[in-house]
Amino acid sequence: MSELRHLINITDLSVEEIAHLIDVADDIIEHPEAYQDICAHKKLATLFFEPSTRTRLSFTAAMMELGGNVLGFDQAASSSTAKGESVSDTIIMASCYADIIAMRHPKEGAPFVAAKHSSVPVINAGDGGHFHPTQTLTDLMTIHRKRGELGNLTIGLCGDLKFGRTVHSLIEAMIRYDNVRFIMISPEELDLPSYNKETLDAKGIEWKEVRSLEEAMPELDVLYMTRVQKERFFNEEDYIRLKDSFILRRNMLETAKEDMIVMHPLPRVNEISLDVDEDPRAAYFFQALMGKYIRMALILFMLGIR
Ligand code: NCD
Repeated sequence: MSELRHLINITDLSVEEIAHLIDVADDIIEHPEAYQDICAHKKLATLFFEPSTRTRLSFTAAMMELGGNVLGFDQAASSSTAKGESVSDTIIMASCYADIIAMRHPKEGAPFVAAKHSSVPVINAGDGGHFHPTQTLTDLMTIHRKRGELGNLTIGLCGDLKFGRTVHSLIEAMIRYDNVRFIMISPEELDLPSYNKETLDAKGIEWKEVRSLEEAMPELDVLYMTRVQKERFFNEEDYIRLKDSFILRRNMLETAKEDMIVMHPLPRVNEISLDVDEDPRAAYFFQALMGKYIRMALILFMLGIR
């Protein structure tokens, strides 16, 4: 692969490429020793202008387990952004020091701008309330391993569908598989943005909106819970009013299918009570683990290493 690739939106990867990444990640799980030096002397820059635990740590762990090195910053305040440097200047500079860049930014579209100025691959690690393609790869790998396929699913998306970038990317990814339908479960004020609804309608995907988890539960194969995105609200009162709109408790799983899986990109605040962790359907910590393996596969792919 000689041409410079970036991952800004999940649709930058074809369905075949995603299947390849899942295969490689499966192989990494089986044979980690075969990959432990494969990125020796390669450097990943993690440029995080917004807080992160899992995404940044899993990118770091992924590069380390491939034998590579990691440099970067974990908050805008510790970079020259605090002095007024533009995203494009930061990226031109970072691409002199690293072979690949993972970038998170509070502004929608910032990684797209970064990619235009970069001489190395740029991976969008979350841009504002827009997209989060590597979380989606994590989600797809989790669904694939738990359910054996990526089609034939009813997916419930619950919580903050307006600002939740993981939801937006997951929808863009899942509509490319056969026989996938969605049930949106959110307060009216946190409904899915109209551009996502238009995409669903244009593709003829079956979807509906409900206002209670109980109503959706018996139909679901995947329940994808999300946090209300406090940092995207304009005023705190709205956040406080909406933050606990949906809380999944273990007794609510009584009407769910035996083989349903409960996912969450994490961090959780109140939206999944701790007793759900003991239910075999809880898949969110497994999901976090899958994030490391699929990011290992992605780094190899973006660097053109076979
Ligand atoms: C998500 C994010 O940052 O969008 N977290 C993550 O990357 N695992 C979800 C969230 O912050 O709620």
